[in-house]
Amino acid sequence: MAKTFDAVVIGGGPGGYIAAIRAAQLGMQVACVDDWKTPAEKPALGGTCTNVGCIPSKALLQSSENYEHAGHGFAEHGVQIKGLAVDVGQMLKRKDKIVKQNNEGILYLFKKNKVAFYHGHGSFVRGDANGWEIKVAGSIEETLTARHAIVATGSSPRALPGTTFDNKLILDNEGALAIPEVPKRLGVVGAGVIGLELGSVWRRLGSKVHILEALPGFLGAADDAIAQEAWKIFTREGELEIELGVNVASIAQGKAGVSVDYKTAEGKAAALACDRLIVSIGRVPNTEGLGADRIGLKIDATGFIEVDKNCRASLPRIYAVGDVVRGPMLAHKGEDEGVMVAEIIAGQHGHVNYDAIPWVMYTMPEIAWVGKTEQQLKAEGIAYRSGRFPFAYNGRALGRDEAEGFIKILADAATDRILGVHAIGSLASELIAEAVVAIEFGASSEDIARICHAHPSLSEVMREAALAVDKRSLNG
Ligand code: FAD
Ligand code: NAI
Repeated sequence: MAKTFDAVVIGGGPGGYIAAIRAAQLGMQVACVDDWKTPAEKPALGGTCTNVGCIPSKALLQSSENYEHAGHGFAEHGVQIKGLAVDVGQMLKRKDKIVKQNNEGILYLFKKNKVAFYHGHGSFVRGDANGWEIKVAGSIEETLTARHAIVATGSSPRALPGTTFDNKLILDNEGALAIPEVPKRLGVVGAGVIGLELGSVWRRLGSKVHILEALPGFLGAADDAIAQEAWKIFTREGELEIELGVNVASIAQGKAGVSVDYKTAEGKAAALACDRLIVSIGRVPNTEGLGADRIGLKIDATGFIEVDKNCRASLPRIYAVGDVVRGPMLAHKGEDEGVMVAEIIAGQHGHVNYDAIPWVMYTMPEIAWVGKTEQQLKAEGIAYRSGRFPFAYNGRALGRDEAEGFIKILADAATDRILGVHAIGSLASELIAEAVVAIEFGASSEDIARICHAHPSLSEVMREAALAVDKRSLNG
């Protein structure tokens, strides 16, 4: 007999597991079905983010930054290192340990909140507003009845036409996070978030990294000033080699490596030979095998589950959150949608403010922003004032040897309300939180300028940028 739950969540990534926990907190009987398997066929909750995304990439990022500091930064501090070497095996082991801690943490949270976990593939069989029947195909076969269903099946890497990932020579994100030794020549297709983050990791560890990007511009989603600064820093001598406006024609795999034939922006034929190739050209939503067609759940032309602003899908009592629906493919966006949906099911007023979702790129220096870019404000005809302050004038940044970059604040010309904040610099990922709070609270640049910020701290750059909106920075 089918077991009945108030809510069944399909997918145990950040969108799904957070939805399950919030629904359980609100008193619902909840089940979460997730099919992620370790190589030993064990469950590993947390989805892409925990297993092959946010968490392992940031673990490796830190290891590679430590190596870079030890190799190039410590001498300036009077710290001498002899016999510096990379042990990639140990780096990967540490990364895997952190992933496992996170997998186990989520399992513990499920037990604590009494969320029933089913390890297997979930698919809709039939149903209506009275309940949706979901089949779980795993080591044990089960059928669950869901009074409400939440789809959080996430996304998978997009492959180049005619090419498959073998994760030995042609790597998706999973392979790129598990290269067993530092490749001498690493090729990357796609200068987006993954290409830049993981390209930098392996560059720091010693690879010569060459990135091929189809678009003629760099970091199109970022504010133009940030993109220009990032280009300057990332492409200087010995850093990343990035070619824009290329057209990849074919990829050939040999015994010794990979060869990419492409056309340059000028239309000339060119080839890139590398030991391994990361393909990071975006991700596609996971809806295959979900049984969407069996119940008539609408999928849009680009493969995403159709939802309204509250993540309600096209059928009653079915919701979808995270990478499988429109909007940025970010873990925190999926989490917030998960909370919203659980609260709506419980009769509350769950809500996500899509205008206040921060973006972070964990490059060196980091890039982070929230709200509108200057080019968006111009296109929308919104009058604004802009203030900018460099990390180079900040004592803490100088002490940390991380004085590159700046913070820029855009505020409404008439009301001074903050419309966008853009940062490139040390710990921008942490600094942006103040800007998110400011935007959520409808703060003005003067509000930030009048708030006491600890000295010496990187956060003073935010305050000085706010002062700069009114052309009255104190330290620059
Ligand atoms: P997922 O995390 O993809 O989880 C979906 C889960 O559902 C998976 O476990 C999948 O196996 C399972 N599943 C799918 N179909 C079924 C089914 N039919 N039945 C049962 N289970 C199913 N985002 C950030 O915000 N910050 C970062 O720093 C960041 N870094 C990233 C780095 C990399 C290398 C990558 C690839 C992504 C990164 N992301 C980052 C993006 C982030 O990982 C995703 O936005 C996030 O994981 C989406 O969460 P989700 O719950 O929608 O889906
Ligand atoms: P992306 O969308 O960030 O970048 C893909 C890049 O590939 C784009 O610049 C695109 O123009 C380019 N491209 C597409 N087709 C191409 C082709 N045929 N040849 C050459 N270039 C081509 O996607 P990416 O880097 O794969 O990451 C996927 C998603 O994962 C991101 O959208 C992001 O949401 C998420 N992510 C988030 C991170 C974070 O928040 N720090 C870190 C890593 C990933």
